[in-house]
Amino acid sequence: MQLEVEIARKAFTNAAGERHDVLVDLKFVLGAGEVGVFVGPSGCGKSTMLKIIAGLDQDYQGRVVRPADARIGMVFQEPRLLPWRSVEENVRLAAPRADDVALSALFTVLELNAHRSHFPGELSLGLARRVALARAFAVEPGFLILDEPLTSLDDALAMRLRDQIATLVDSQSVTTLLVTHDVDDAIRLGDRVFLLSSRPARILAELPIRTPRKARGEAEIAAIKAEIARRTNGDSANGDAL
Ligand SMILES: Nc1ncnc2c1ncn2[C@@H]1O[C@H](COP(=O)(O)OP(=O)(O)O)[C@@H](O)[C@H]1O
Ligand SMILES: [Mg+2]
Repeated sequence: MQLEVEIARKAFTNAAGERHDVLVDLKFVLGAGEVGVFVGPSGCGKSTMLKIIAGLDQDYQGRVVRPADARIGMVFQEPRLLPWRSVEENVRLAAPRADDVALSALFTVLELNAHRSHFPGELSLGLARRVALARAFAVEPGFLILDEPLTSLDDALAMRLRDQIATLVDSQSVTTLLVTHDVDDAIRLGDRVFLLSSRPARILAELPIRTPRKARGEAEIAAIKAEIARRTNGDSANGDAL
């Protein structure tokens, strides 16, 4: 269930009719069950890349081979919940075959049990993100795509949610692609970290992290962070973001 990505070029045309490259020569492979995390500055093309990989945008040069026969779970940068449906209905509609035991376990890990009957308009951003995550995991995806799931949350909540995501990806061993602009999140969640340049995004470096997620200590995380800072020194936009 490996993912193969070769995006030779993706460009957008602006209102003045000028084309701007967003992704150039982006090539990588992600093994079955691996968590690949992409770190890059805001606006470099991360969401654009994820939409292409998910198959939602076909207007690019290159090719993407998604894990064969895998159901895709996707969490967009905005939670995109159905406003007139409760939390539980939002999840069940996406995963009609999910059984009650699996859903209960999922709601428990994501601390959503008290919110099952709430509506999206009543939820904080952090809660809405957790519902979007529950919806993605409920389909028992073979391939999971997460677009900045921790952005705009306060630190304590982001840390809890990061641990919840780690627990879920480890328990379901799903091939996962996550993008973030936060190096710390990347090092704590990824099996393989890809550093992206500013726009047009290209891969500056790729770092495998072999220590299992739960066993990574602060000293190792600090050492990897230093390595990343060293590797992105030449890229000023990334230097600002890191
Ligand atoms: N539909 C679109 N039409 C035109 N330009 C777009 C569109 N979507 C994104 N862009 C541009 O592409 C660049 C990358 O956007 P995006 O992939 O959202 O970046 P990121 O997710 O890394 O912050 C930005 O300059 C953005 O303005
Ligand atoms: Mg984005």
